[in-house]
Amino acid sequence: MKKLRWGLLSTARISRAVIPPIRASLQSELKAVASRDIVKARNHAKEWHIPHAYGSYEELLADEDIDVIYNPLPNHLHAEWSIRAAEAGKHVLCEKPLALTLDEVDQVMAAAKKHNVIIAEAFMYQHHPQTLKVLDLIKQDTIGELLLIKGTFTFNLDRSDDVRWVPEWGGGSIWDVGCYPISFSRLVANAEPAEVFGWQVTGSTGIDVVFSGQMRFASGLLAQFDCGFRAPYRTMMEIVGTKGVIELGSPFKPVGGEWIKIKRGDSIELLRSPEFEPYRGEIEDMEHAVLDGQAPRVTLENSRSNVATILALLESARTGQVVRW
Ligand SMILES: NC(=O)c1ccc[n+]([C@@H]2O[C@H](COP(=O)([O-])OP(=O)(O)OC[C@H]3O[C@@H](n4cnc5c(N)ncnc54)[C@H](OP(=O)(O)O)[C@@H]3O)[C@@H](O)[C@H]2O)c1
Repeated sequence: MKKLRWGLLSTARISRAVIPPIRASLQSELKAVASRDIVKARNHAKEWHIPHAYGSYEELLADEDIDVIYNPLPNHLHAEWSIRAAEAGKHVLCEKPLALTLDEVDQVMAAAKKHNVIIAEAFMYQHHPQTLKVLDLIKQDTIGELLLIKGTFTFNLDRSDDVRWVPEWGGGSIWDVGCYPISFSRLVANAEPAEVFGWQVTGSTGIDVVFSGQMRFASGLLAQFDCGFRAPYRTMMEIVGTKGVIELGSPFKPVGGEWIKIKRGDSIELLRSPEFEPYRGEIEDMEHAVLDGQAPRVTLENSRSNVATILALLESARTGQVVRW
């Protein structure tokens, strides 16, 4: 059976989450890791039993035995290195956000097309059976016409040297975690917002440490979210319809065993989320896209719309105005 041969671009912390599902898959194998520092690369390779270690990202891209690059670089390097990987003929699973400007997204799209490779944003929650179940419940009219969506993602960012503090590197809570409730709301709405409004609390380094935003869709559906780096770990999504409400306590990284709560009238129904490793879906999706020719679930057009929405919310917070498009 043909296998996808993966290379890790950097020794980023998050790579620890994607290594186990790559390893667990019969259609993937982890071949190499690259770091700006060969010692870090070798240590990472030793710890995770990765056959090859490279002391530069360029060497990884030049490796002819690599099919797919996992790109978990700091946000400002996502577009640049996804494009460089495409130019080297590699497919790319790129961490969120795909890019920081629409111009960058367009360049990523052009590179994928020109070099005939798959580039997909690693929004792993979109592949999870819990998310697919929620979309199905809505399609089956379980809660009626959608009226309101609420979402939250916060955590305490206590590492003072974290890349998320640097404004020019795409730091800030909306790029880092606000992107989840925004993406989830757009997915549930199955539409793009017609207008948005946002407020932010700006921290000492110039990034948003708290963000509260609203989106109005043309259908009249409203969505509200908050995100931030100063509150304890909180995640949730609530979807309110004319006949009922769906609540998720762990919408973005479900591991299985959580409950999908469906409230209708006085009744509360609890559906247990299937056991499913949270990062497995994005690996399998890339396998299906490259090996079987299926369209990736998270399309570049969809990623473009998420970036556009985040940029509009940041503009709104900056100007104090509603942003329409
Ligand atoms: N999907 C998810 O659940 C999830 C969760 C966490 C993070 N993420 C995303 O993954 C990405 C990485 O996050 P992380 O928390 O894993 O970050 P991290 O541990 O700081 O890793 C970033 C890596 O980028 C490399 N790098 C290249 N240029 C750098 C620079 N100028 N400064 C610092 N590092 C640089 C470093 O690797 P070398 O030193 O080895 O070159 C570093 O290890 C972000 O885009 C984030 O949004 C996604």
